[in-house]
Amino acid sequence: MISTKFTEAFGIEAPIVQGGMQWVGRAELAAAVSDAGGLGLITALTQPTPGDLANEIARARDLTDKPFGVNLTILPTINPPPYEEYRQVIVDAGITIVETAGSNPAAHLPIFHEHGVKVLHKCTSVRHAVKAQDLGVDGISIDGFECAGHPGEDDIPGLVLIPAAARQIDIPMIASGGFADGQGLVAALALGADGINMGSRFMCTVESPIHQKVKEAIVAGNELGTELIFRTLRNTGRVASNTVSREVVEILNRGGQFEDIAELVAGKRGVKVYETGDLEAGIWWIGTAMGLIDDIPTAGEVVTRIVEEAELIIGKRLADAIV
Ligand SMILES: Cc1cc2nc3c(=O)[nH]c(=O)nc-3n(C[C@H](O)[C@H](O)[C@H](O)COP(=O)(O)O)c2cc1C
Repeated sequence: MISTKFTEAFGIEAPIVQGGMQWVGRAELAAAVSDAGGLGLITALTQPTPGDLANEIARARDLTDKPFGVNLTILPTINPPPYEEYRQVIVDAGITIVETAGSNPAAHLPIFHEHGVKVLHKCTSVRHAVKAQDLGVDGISIDGFECAGHPGEDDIPGLVLIPAAARQIDIPMIASGGFADGQGLVAALALGADGINMGSRFMCTVESPIHQKVKEAIVAGNELGTELIFRTLRNTGRVASNTVSREVVEILNRGGQFEDIAELVAGKRGVKVYETGDLEAGIWWIGTAMGLIDDIPTAGEVVTRIVEEAELIIGKRLADAIV
């Protein structure tokens, strides 16, 4: 067992979180992570309506008695989803942990706190982490440049970002981006974090609802297999490098605007990758941790073996290094 400020404050056994993942973060995966002692998260906006989210939460409840949470990604879009309704479903379902990400969670904090929901806010810079701490969130997930999804625009990898954040964050803080094994967990703890959050690693597990061919591509891939898109739009995303992502980069580098790539990056094309296993059908998200992923275990095995590996490194390799 590895006990930290994070496991104590959030009432879980292992300091390992499965981060929100659009289309991937469904009941089976979240329940499997939580059942093994980590914290699994259902991704709210993967569910087309707030009612569907209620059903998904109920499905996860049937699969585990352990606590699991919900990711609420707050996107600054022109036509935002009905956030208040999703939030109400989360509260009504008795969920006790929410991961917020994407932008400032201030509007949602009072209602969550009123209902005893702990908020873990994920962000990609020290200044946003400090701001979230000042706003009163209950935990920080600091997401480094290595990560899948949106690494922000500062390009600071975890080796510097995590300890820099730890110097200013007093509440429980977990590290995110590039973690996939026990070595990573030990490194995160050594750098001042209280645990880790992973997307890519959990995406490549038995319970992850993506096509087997995508999982096999992750296993076959390495740390060079990602592409940074949307750089010129200042909304950088780290995705798998394929013909579509490379075309997007080329168009934007030539001075193209979002309208010029909208069709290429359409969500329905990305979903086709996950559903059919056609790796060139659209944009799909993966981080540099791909270079550390060599198999397709169950999500529970991922949690168990990371803790075991970390215990061995701390209790044996590192302890023995002190002479
Ligand atoms: C397929 C996929 C979809 C993701 N979708 C979201 C999302 O909707 N909201 C969010 O906050 N983070 C999202 N992320 C980011 C993860 O929650 C997590 O922060 C990130 O994967 C950590 O980096 P790692 O992949 O190196 O572990 C996604 C990641 C992946 C791989």
